[in-house]
This record gives sequence, C-alpha cells and structure tokens, in this order.
Amino acid sequence: MDDRVLIFDTTLRDGEQTPGVNLNLTEKLEIARHLERLRVDVIEAGFAGASRGDFEAVEAVSRETRSSVVCSLARCAPVDIERAAQALSGAARPRIHVFLASSALHLEKKLRMTPDQALERAASGVRLAKSLCDDVQFSAEDASRSDPAFLAQLFGEAIAQGASTINITDTVGYATANEFSRLVQELLKNIRGVDRARVSVHCHNDLGLAVANSLVAVRHGARQVECTMNGVGERAGNAALEEIVMGLRTRADYYGASCNIDTKRLYVTSRLVSTLTGLEIPPNKPVVGANAFLHQSGIHQHGVACDRSTYEVMRSEDIGVPAGNAPLGKLSGSHAFEETASRLGFTLSRNDLGAAFKRFKELADRKKDVTERDLVALLSGQWVDAPELYHLESYQLFAGNTLTPTATVKIKYGDDVITEAAVGDGPIDAAYRAVDRITKRDTKLETYGIRAVTEGQDALGEVTVRITVDTGDGKPPRRALGKGASTDIIEASILAYVNAVNRAAAD
Ligand code: KIV
Ligand code: ZN
Repeated sequence: MDDRVLIFDTTLRDGEQTPGVNLNLTEKLEIARHLERLRVDVIEAGFAGASRGDFEAVEAVSRETRSSVVCSLARCAPVDIERAAQALSGAARPRIHVFLASSALHLEKKLRMTPDQALERAASGVRLAKSLCDDVQFSAEDASRSDPAFLAQLFGEAIAQGASTINITDTVGYATANEFSRLVQELLKNIRGVDRARVSVHCHNDLGLAVANSLVAVRHGARQVECTMNGVGERAGNAALEEIVMGLRTRADYYGASCNIDTKRLYVTSRLVSTLTGLEIPPNKPVVGANAFLHQSGIHQHGVACDRSTYEVMRSEDIGVPAGNAPLGKLSGSHAFEETASRLGFTLSRNDLGAAFKRFKELADRKKDVTERDLVALLSGQWVDAPELYHLESYQLFAGNTLTPTATVKIKYGDDVITEAAVGDGPIDAAYRAVDRITKRDTKLETYGIRAVTEGQDALGEVTVRITVDTGDGKPPRRALGKGASTDIIEASILAYVNAVNRAAAD
C-alpha cells in the first residue's frame, strides 16, 4: 500500500465555522499562503455556495495557489456544485467536495429522505461534479453513526460515478478509536471499486478523540486526513493538523505512513491562525503550546540536560519553535529585518515591509531584545490591520485602588485630533468609554483576552478583543476582532479596541 498520507486542511472552511470566528478575505488569503508553504496537499478554501464571502475566498485562493489542490465544499445540489465549479475556475488543481448525510438520524430528521433517495442524490451530485471538475471527493456526513452496509453502498455509488476520494466522517466526535478503526477496515473490504479511490477521514473532537481516531484510521489504510491548524472548528473543533503530522512523523514505525508537510513551518502557521482567528493556543496544547518543550521538575531538567530524548519525543527545532535568542535590536536595518521575517515564513511586499519595519523599530525602542517570538507576534498581527480611520495618538490614566479610574484618550480622525475623557470600572473600561465618546459608535465589548508573547519584565503583551457595533440602520450589529501588541498592556488594550473599531468600519 502507498505509504503517503495526504494532508487536507479545512481551517478556512470547517475551521471558520468556529463560533465567533469571522475571517476577511485578506486574512483567508494570508492563511492559504502559509498553508501552501507548509506544503499541505489540499486547501479547502470554503463552501462557495454558502455565501458571497465564501465564494470570493474560494475564487481568490484558487487564483493564487499553484501547488496545493484547492477545494470547495458543496451539498449534492446543482446550485452548490455549479457555484463551486465557478469559484474554482482559476485554480491550477481544483477539487469539488460534495457531501450528503448518511445516518438514518440525519436522513429522517434533517433531510426527510429515504436511503434510496440518498443513493440517487449522491450519484447525481457526484455525476454533475465530475462533469465540471476532474477531481471529485464525496463525503458521507455522520458516517460513524450510519449503517456500515448502507455506507459501503453509498461510497460504492460515489466511486462508480467518478469520485476519486471518499471521506469517512465522525461528524459529532462520537466514535471510539476501536469502533472507528473497525469501520474503516470494514469499508475498505466492502466498498465496490475502493481500490480506485483514496480513503479519507474527517474527525471532530467532541470527546477529545479527533486526532486518535484519525491516526488509527491511517494505521488501517486511510490515506488522507482532514484537519485544521490548532484543531479549530465547529464546537470542540477538528483533528489538529500539527498533532496529526507530528504523530505520523514521530511514530512512523507504528503508522507506517508519512506526509509531505514542512514541519519547520508548523509553529509560525499555528501562530498566524491563532492571531487571525483570535483563538488563543492553550499553553499545554501538544506540539505548539508554550509549555510543549518546557521542563519544570528538577528530575526532568537533569534528564534533558543529560540527553534530550529522556523527556522529549520531538525536537522543537523540527516544529520551527523560535529560539528565545535576540536576533534583532534597535540598530538592526530593514535588510536584516526582512531576512529574519522571511526565515520565519513571512514574505512581505514593499508596502507591508515598510509598515512592519516601522512597528519593529517602535518595539525595539522600548524593548532591548526583540526575540523571534516577538517578531512572529508582530508579523502575524499585521494581517489584522485595517485602514486606520482612527489612530491612537496618546492616552493618560488616573487610577488606583482608592480612586475612580479616569482615562483621557487622544485620537487622530482624518485631519482632526479629538480628545475625550471618561471614568470607568477600571482603567481599561475608562479608556474604552473615552474611545466610544470619540467615535460616537454604539460599540459593545464582547470578549477581552491578554497574553504575554514572551517572558520577562519587558514582555510584549498581546490583547485580543471582540466587539459588536450597532450601526443603527436596522441591520444586525457588525462583529469585529481587534489586536494590539505593546510592552504597555494599557496601550495594547486601547490599540486592540481601536483596531476592532477600524475593522468594523472597513467591513
Ligand atoms: O463534519 C463533517 O461531516 C463535515 C463534512 C461536510 C465533511 O464537515
Ligand atoms: Zn466537519
């Protein structure tokens, strides 16, 4: 059996279904560029028939991507399949991914369809997709809760109509590892024509088994795994790409399979996705979490000092975790900056380089050592930039545990510089109220998060906020994510808020 496993990334489709995540086109394109550099085999860029935004994302990713396959999801419905084909028309390697539910539960309760009707719908969907695109994938939704005999029939029909990949899903993360591996083995034996197709798996993480179920399926013959960066996705998310890839690599002896991912780009891609989705990576997250290569106990530290393999099963450098050193300082020039950015996986246009270098200089003025981690935070953050309708000039605070916090904020708006003051429950609340007075927008802070990018007293603090802005025109409130980074956490907080207001205004 071919030992190559294809990595199918669905961060831009299933990952974007994460509650609260809403990527714009620029951000989706930047993620797609990083995925291609990571050498993922397939990028699922969206569900073209679902919305105009998704259509444009699939179209734009298709135009730019040359080596990875670009894929659009579609229901087994002519309107969806035709939209997918249209959006993919500029792709070098297009794929249409059609899906239909297969469990009795979904067929009866959701689609009100008999099994025979489902067989007919799947066949006509794949047939139409095949007439528009050579590469067609068929997924049975809720496969793990479906009758295996019916599933085999459904997949057999999809292959007969031209599907070259069939995808076994654990849509609600329900299967145990034993059940899922048995299902894969049974299907590999019973699907008519299965030797003409690649068997793929797509697992969700509701019970924490998405990665385990995906890997066990590889062990039993699956040769494509669908996953997302950092495991983002609906509810508890999808199988995490970085865990699948490092699992395959670290335990190649057991899985007997390998993939083509450039593992040295895992860290930077993970950080970019975290920044743009606003979903923090927990410190104990395998592979890319801040603690993944830290050793706390004396016994472990001693073991690692003697030989790293005593307590490490992977090497941080293979994942591209930046060293904690100080590669750049305030005297570094733009050439050295560009070179370091490129080594970290960021290719910058002239304009972007100018803006990023200016921010780097501002940071280097405040922080003696600018580490690679600082640079990854700074460079990931630039994709959250929006036209600066409002620009923070300065702020002053009057706060203490026995005082009413008061903030005075000065913001540039066009040619005007507007100053307002406000009191609040805390210094950040006061500053946000002052910004609201300046913008005169009906803004509500939904979530606020802060993390230190690096260790130490002069650590760079990164703040992520989500806001809603009621435009008062009867339309639903606009949602926006904002980011701000500074060695001063109050400034980072105001920058994040102003960034979110600018993004809401730009959308
Ligand atoms: O979870 C699922 O079943 C899916 C399919 C559409 C592939 O995302
Ligand atoms: Zn899914």
